Amino acid sequence: MIAKNSANGNSLLQAINVFKEYKNGERTLPVLHAINLSIEKGEIVVIVGASGAGKSTLLHILGILDTPTSGSVIYKGINLTTLSAKKQAEMRNHIFGFVFQFYHLLPDFTALENVLLPSLIGSRPKNRNQANETYTNRAISLLERVGLGDRLTHKPSQLSGGERQRVAIIRALINNPELLLCDEPTGNLDTKTGHEIRELIWDLNKTLNQTVVIVTHDEEIAKHADRIIRIADGRILE
Ligand SMILES: Nc1ncnc2c1ncn2[C@@H]1O[C@H](COP(=O)(O)OP(=O)(O)O)[C@@H](O)[C@H]1O
Ligand SMILES: [Mg+2]
Repeated sequence: MIAKNSANGNSLLQAINVFKEYKNGERTLPVLHAINLSIEKGEIVVIVGASGAGKSTLLHILGILDTPTSGSVIYKGINLTTLSAKKQAEMRNHIFGFVFQFYHLLPDFTALENVLLPSLIGSRPKNRNQANETYTNRAISLLERVGLGDRLTHKPSQLSGGERQRVAIIRALINNPELLLCDEPTGNLDTKTGHEIRELIWDLNKTLNQTVVIVTHDEEIAKHADRIIRIADGRILE
């Protein structure tokens, strides 16, 4: 059965009847059960649920970082699930920007270099040794915009948690993705810094019309959402 908030013709991204189970030797662990949802352009959707509910698994499936056991993920009418791995990687890099709880910045690279990395993926080898000037300018202007203009050459270890997450958010935006997918973006931050990061994400939604999907157990984030989807034990609660 398709939930009432899905199967809209204007959907940017849809999950259609997504099931996921992990196989561990003889044992099968069901994690997602008949997930149907739909994300519209420009909205901020917050998916909330307790730890272990299946939020990260769902976000990874939406961003085609992981494959559902059955069901599909549809982007503008294109079934991403059935594409070749190569095509999926291309689409993933083009459609999605990812933000994670623990930033996932590369420690030996500066803030600016970390931001530029996704712009190099898929580029021709001969262009790789020098980041494209357009991307560099975009990276610097975005970093300035989030107050990191004087942190461009800092390594992650020289940045605070909130600064690292801002770098990670800008990295997610460098390719101008259609959707920003965030997994517990404030989960590793103190309340005040978490609040600032939330405000930044909401500001990007307003000023860049950036579509955002956030999974979190943080009800404070959920309170500000355009739409809340609640999941428990791998199922959407109606
Ligand atoms: N790679 C994996 N292999 C086996 N079980 C997993 C794997 N990833 C997650 N799980 C299990 O799936 C369930 C949901 O995990 P997850 O999606 O990370 O939940 P949440 O993000 O809501 O905390 C948990 O019980 C977790 O232990
Ligand atoms: Mg999780």
